[in-house]
Amino acid sequence: MSVKMAVLASGNGSNLQAMIDAIREHRLDAELRIVISDQPKAYALERAKAVKIPTALIASKEREVFEQELASQLRQSGAEWIVLAGFMRILSAAFVGAHRNRIVNIHPSLLPLFSGKDAIGQAWRAGVTETGCTVHYVDEGVDTGPIIRQTKVAIQPGDTVETLTERMHHAEHQLYVEVLQMISEGSIIR
Ligand code: GRF
Repeated sequence: MSVKMAVLASGNGSNLQAMIDAIREHRLDAELRIVISDQPKAYALERAKAVKIPTALIASKEREVFEQELASQLRQSGAEWIVLAGFMRILSAAFVGAHRNRIVNIHPSLLPLFSGKDAIGQAWRAGVTETGCTVHYVDEGVDTGPIIRQTKVAIQPGDTVETLTERMHHAEHQLYVEVLQMISEGSIIR
């Protein structure tokens, strides 16, 4: 039986698209019940609409109001897992506590290195030869939750931030789909 997921996205939604494609190609046995955004212009909403996944826009800047509406949308959708994919808001401790070990996120670095914003740029500027991406549970901190899986991405001599970003996104799309499939198979349980 497919696992029911809600995807929260604030931007482009390329990770969402990777999930949509993987479901269509039977590489991911999951049901995307709703895509929720806090940004009216998020392209992720268009990607969802294009394949008839229900969407919700919750624009309130007030965290309590935002999360009440979020909780209500999630309840109505029947989603069992909350998948953050480029979602730029920080969820409160109360919200995280109410959905413990049911919220996952992807971050473009090998956490705990380069947490927070612009992780790819941070790694680039630090001059490291390797970075990567991390799928983790969301806890009360920012990018601090238990790590589920990571993929390494080498930074090559001829790389620019742009070429690195492109390879990072590719790695993210593969990693996120793999982890979500493991969740769906029940092989990741906390
Ligand atoms: C990704 O790099 C993800 O790791 C980070 O936000 C970005 C979202 O990209 N959390 P997209 O909207 O899925 O294209």
